[in-house]
Amino acid sequence: MEDDRYLPTMLSPKSVLITGSNRGIGLEFVRQFLKFADPPKYIFASCRLPEKASELTEIAKTSPCVHVIKLDVADHSSIKNAKAVVASVVEDNGINLLINNAGTYRADADIYNVSWEEMRRNFDVNAIGPLMISQTFLPLLKQAAGRKKDEVMSCNKAAIINISSDFGSITENFGRLYPYRASKAAQNMITSCLSIDLKADGILCTAVHPGWVKTDMGGPNAKISTEESVSGVFAILRKLQGEEESGKYYDSTSGKVFGW
Ligand SMILES: NC(=O)c1ccc[n+]([C@@H]2O[C@H](COP(=O)([O-])OP(=O)(O)OC[C@H]3O[C@@H](n4cnc5c(N)ncnc54)[C@H](OP(=O)(O)O)[C@@H]3O)[C@@H](O)[C@H]2O)c1
Repeated sequence: MEDDRYLPTMLSPKSVLITGSNRGIGLEFVRQFLKFADPPKYIFASCRLPEKASELTEIAKTSPCVHVIKLDVADHSSIKNAKAVVASVVEDNGINLLINNAGTYRADADIYNVSWEEMRRNFDVNAIGPLMISQTFLPLLKQAAGRKKDEVMSCNKAAIINISSDFGSITENFGRLYPYRASKAAQNMITSCLSIDLKADGILCTAVHPGWVKTDMGGPNAKISTEESVSGVFAILRKLQGEEESGKYYDSTSGKVFGW
């Protein structure tokens, strides 16, 4: 019976993998995980060019739980190499939380200038990458879920969180931005499919919009800082408990669920 099971009240995954963690929201995820009273034992902070990720490598120097790993989300062999590195560290404990955060965006893509190349690039990074990462890391997520068989679904047990965008919502659409909108809408469908297909394995899959955030992507006029954004995302992640929370599309700024 679901009611009799242990319900975690805190966000305290033992291991987490974040993509695109060299800057922006991804870097802030790393910073805020480190501030937890009970921080993860392993934070796999991935990025495509660790040798250029100066802020992240500085953090890792003083935080032994931070493992900076190379991962280009649009390159399958890079994903497989990263999985091998993570697996060698966590051994048979698996990983509890995968945050597919890396993303790409071009503000001026309209019907007149949208190109095949830009569409393909956005689909690779924003939609296909998160899917192939989820597929590749699935054995590790299953291992983690298997170790907490008696717990309800949560980010402490085993979860895939896809950082989506309000621009991926067909319900909220106001046109333009074809590569970004279409690839995030595809990512949303992938999140929904994963939530159905991985339910039996006890793996939660949900999409979260992080707000309009002051990063290279969001620009200086955005509404919130990375600190506010990640605090908001964490507030959502804490609430994701039980299988009814899988397959959702949350707006972390309001706590409400978007129409797909
Ligand atoms: N900022 C906003 O207002 C906003 C709003 C809604 C949703 N989001 C979503 O939030 C997430 C983070 O956005 P952000 O604002 O932090 O963006 P950002 O500052 O532009 O950072 C994007 C991150 O994605 C990484 N990335 C891009 N292509 C990659 C690839 N092929 N492999 C690995 N990493 C790659 C970048 O790495 P490099 O440094 O190597 O390029 C960088 O770490 C994205 O999914 C975005 O769509 C952001």
